[in-house]
Amino acid sequence: MTAIPTGEYAVRDIHSIDDLRRRAKRRLPAMVYDFIEGGALDELTLRRNREALDAQLLPQRVLVDTSQRHATASILGTRLDLPLVVSPMGLLTVCHPDADVAIARAAATAGSVFVHSPWSGCSLEEVSDAAPGRVWAQIAFWTDDAETQRHIDRAHALGVDTLVIAGDVAVSSKRDRDLRHGTGMPPRPPLRDVVDTALHPGWVMRWLLGRSMTWGNYSLDGRAIRMREMEAWMERNENQTASWDDIARLRSRWKGNIVVKGIMTQADARLAIEHGADGVFVSNHGGRQFDGQLATIEALPAVVDAVDGRAAVIMDGGIRRGADIAKALSLGADVAAAGRPFALGLAAAAQAGATRAFEVLHDELLTVMGFLGATRVEELAAADCGAVDAFDEAEAEVVP
Ligand SMILES: Cc1cc2nc3c(=O)[nH]c(=O)nc-3n(C[C@H](O)[C@H](O)[C@H](O)COP(=O)(O)O)c2cc1C
Repeated sequence: MTAIPTGEYAVRDIHSIDDLRRRAKRRLPAMVYDFIEGGALDELTLRRNREALDAQLLPQRVLVDTSQRHATASILGTRLDLPLVVSPMGLLTVCHPDADVAIARAAATAGSVFVHSPWSGCSLEEVSDAAPGRVWAQIAFWTDDAETQRHIDRAHALGVDTLVIAGDVAVSSKRDRDLRHGTGMPPRPPLRDVVDTALHPGWVMRWLLGRSMTWGNYSLDGRAIRMREMEAWMERNENQTASWDDIARLRSRWKGNIVVKGIMTQADARLAIEHGADGVFVSNHGGRQFDGQLATIEALPAVVDAVDGRAAVIMDGGIRRGADIAKALSLGADVAAAGRPFALGLAAAAQAGATRAFEVLHDELLTVMGFLGATRVEELAAADCGAVDAFDEAEAEVVP
C-alpha cells in the first residue's frame, strides 16, 4: 500500500526530529503538513513552547561514573523504557493509513505508551490489538452520555487501565493555516491546494487506498463513520458544557487511572486532584488551541508544587530533543510526552519513522544524562541536576 520503504533503510539518514520534519514536509501536501505543524492564531504559544525549552539550561557535571546509564521510568503503574509517552492525536490517517496502529506498535517496541484519541481514524480496538498493554484511551464527554459510556466500556473490555480527558477541547480553536487551506471535515481546498496535492501522488495513492475516508473510532448503524458524516456527528455530540462534575462522575464509574490533560495552572491542578484525578497532564495542546499563554515548561514548576506528590505529572509541548525530556523531568515532571515528532515520523516513513523518533529521543536523552552526571532518570529531579533558568543565570553575579 505504501510507496515509502519501511525498516532501517528508510530512516538511515534521519538523525533528529527535525530531519523527520523535513522529510515529512516533502512527502505531505502543504495542507496536511500545516494541519500537523500549525497552531492557533499567531502561533505565539506554539513558538513559546520551543523558545522556553531552549532558554532552559542544564548544569554540566564532570567526573561522575555514568557508564551504566538507563532511562527506565514508570508512570501510573506502567514501566517505561524511556520517560516519554505519545500524546493523543486525532486524524493521523491524513499522514499515513497505518496511522495510530503504526505509532502504537512503535511505542510498544520502544517500551512507551500510546494515548489513543477519540478523534482517531483507527478504533481503540485495533490500536490496543497492535500494542497490548501499551495503550491509554482518551475519552470525550459527548452530549450523549451513552456514547461516552460505550467508549469507557470498550476501554474496560480491552484491559486499558488509564483514561485521559482533555479539558481544553470544549472551545474550537481558530487555526489560520487550516482556514487558508480549507482544511475541515470535509475539506474544501482552494485550487492551489488541489494542484499541490496532485503533485504528491504517493500521498494521494495512500489516501485513496487507505482508510482516510473513515473516522474509525465511532460507528453509525454498525459501520465506521465516513469522514463526510463526521462534521454532522460532531455537531450533534460535541459538548461545550463539560465540567469538573464530569470528572467526579467519571471517578465514580471508572476504577482505573484518570489523567486530566490541559492543566496549566495551580488552581486546575488542585481541582483535578480534588475531583479524583490520578495524573495531571501539563499541556497547552502544542499551541493548537488557546494562543497567548505560558509555555508548558514555564507552567510546569508551579503545577508540580500544587500537585505536591499527590498525582503523576506529565508534560508535553515542544519536546524535540532528549535534552527537552531531561528539562521537563528536572523541573518535576514524572514523564514527558510528545505529539508532532511521532506524527512527522509517521508521515516520513510509517512505523519505521515513528520508531526512529523514539530511537533519536532515547539516544539523545542518554547522552545528556551522561553530561548531567545521571545514571537513572530519578536523578534528574535531584536539585544538583535541576535546570537553570537562563534569565536568572544572566542576572547572577559573576564570580571572578
Ligand atoms: C495532529 C494533531 C492532532 C491532535 N489531536 C489531539 C487530540 O485528539 N486530543 C488531544 O488531547 N490533543 C490533541 N493534540 C495535541 C497533542 O495531544 C499534544 O498536546 C501536542 O501535540 C503536544 O505538543 P507537540 O506536538 O509539540 O509535542 C493533537 C496534536 C496534533 C499535532
